[in-house]
Amino acid sequence: MPRVAAHFVKICSVMSLHLVWAAPAWAQGMERAEVFAQVKALAALGSELFHDPRLSASGKQSCATCHNEEHAFAPANAQAVQRGGADLAQMGHRATPSLKYLQSVPQFTEHFFDSEDEADESVDNGPTGGLTWDGRAKSLAEQARIPLLSPFEMGNKTAQDVVDRAQKAGYAPRLKVFEPFLKTGSLFMVITKALETYQQDWRKFYPYTSKYDAYLAGKVALSKQEQRGLEVFEDPQKGNCASCHLSQPGHDGTPPQFTDYGLIALAVPRNTALPYNANPQNYDLGLCGPDRTDLAQHADYCGLFKTPTLRNVATRKVFFHNGVYKSLRDAVAFYVLRDTQPSRVYPKNAQGEVVLYDDLPKQYHQNINMNPPFGHRVGNKPALSEPEIDAVVAFLKTLTDGYTAPTAQRRQKER
Ligand code: HEC
Ligand code: HEC
Repeated sequence: MPRVAAHFVKICSVMSLHLVWAAPAWAQGMERAEVFAQVKALAALGSELFHDPRLSASGKQSCATCHNEEHAFAPANAQAVQRGGADLAQMGHRATPSLKYLQSVPQFTEHFFDSEDEADESVDNGPTGGLTWDGRAKSLAEQARIPLLSPFEMGNKTAQDVVDRAQKAGYAPRLKVFEPFLKTGSLFMVITKALETYQQDWRKFYPYTSKYDAYLAGKVALSKQEQRGLEVFEDPQKGNCASCHLSQPGHDGTPPQFTDYGLIALAVPRNTALPYNANPQNYDLGLCGPDRTDLAQHADYCGLFKTPTLRNVATRKVFFHNGVYKSLRDAVAFYVLRDTQPSRVYPKNAQGEVVLYDDLPKQYHQNINMNPPFGHRVGNKPALSEPEIDAVVAFLKTLTDGYTAPTAQRRQKER
């Protein structure tokens, strides 16, 4: 993926640590050392803002409350949806994603064509990219606006509220230093840019330190079960997971991101535990709304959500956009049971019939993805056996960052 790699420049190296950040647009024409110092200062400011609850209406919630570094920047608790707002009692309707490995998410587009060296350039892969579950945010800076101003997240009424709170918390002098330099036009934009820059620090957000990365580098072997899981994950006749959650390095050696960033309708079951879903008229339709508003006229986009990376997925406590599953095994089993044993996935109505795809109104059912592992008839054998599901789960656990090879194994490799 040269498209991705080209976004990154090595800016500087300090104390033998190579720090890599995205080259900011405002850095044009500046000396390297100056760029580095500014990026570092901005990232440090962003880190403080990210962890500072004083930016919220409740005074008690920061970005880090929902995006906890110890949990791959996802929540520490197992609630499907986090509470927020001025009274910390408001709930939205989406699970909080991890903030890791977002650095190469492409800009949202309705028509995505692969870069020439990766696949067939002429194939339109459809809606792809963007941040959040429906791809509505163009950049990390633009995204930061959403939680800062959401009534069920940090609960500020206006951008000025955020600036006022930041100034009251003592950030005024530092925000003012960056304003002319970033040419953003407002202190609010300095805040969102700082948050963005913090999230571009690879050591925290995309370190590639999983067992699978060590395996790809030839430093460690996978266990038999993990190896079997990988095979099944990649096999088009079995899991076919890798058709969306890309598992092999790019031709230029870019590590696999475990997503192709596509927006797809999987029809995960309705999460009846969400207050939002107590109203039977309410549906989160992803790409066609209601959170996203620009594509509301596209019936063929209803039910589509962004394919998340599976890196660090084993550290998650809830799965899919509505957090309907609480275990990774259940999330994997969903794929092979949805069409073969739907009674194990969806609820029954008063007549005792299974309500297929119960979180998507009927008129949108044609949007649902039917490619393997989906599409088997009711009663047929699921695409994966129980031991194969276990193997996929074992494999997914190799995608967690922070792996250190056992010393004995390492020594053996070195010999
Ligand atoms: C109350 C919990 C909560 C707080 C506080 C919160 N977030 Fe989030 N975050 C979420 C949820 C839920 C989503 C998914 C939103 C959606 O899809 O509409 C999300 C999505 C994101 C994404 C997009 C991830 C992706 O996979 O595309 C980024 C980036 C992000 N948040 C950064 C931040 C920053 C920066 C802050 C602080 C300014 C913050 N968040 C505060 C819950 C929270
Ligand atoms: C057709 C594309 C596609 C295929 C094939 C696919 N996935 Fe997914 N995956 C997605 C999308 C899209 C989502 C998010 C859907 C949603 O939340 O509504 C997702 C979400 C997930 C999640 C939840 C992640 C999270 O952060 O909540 C897991 C786990 C997962 N996939 C594993 C797998 C496994 C294992 C396979 C193979 C058995 C697989 N996927 C095959 C597109 C795909």
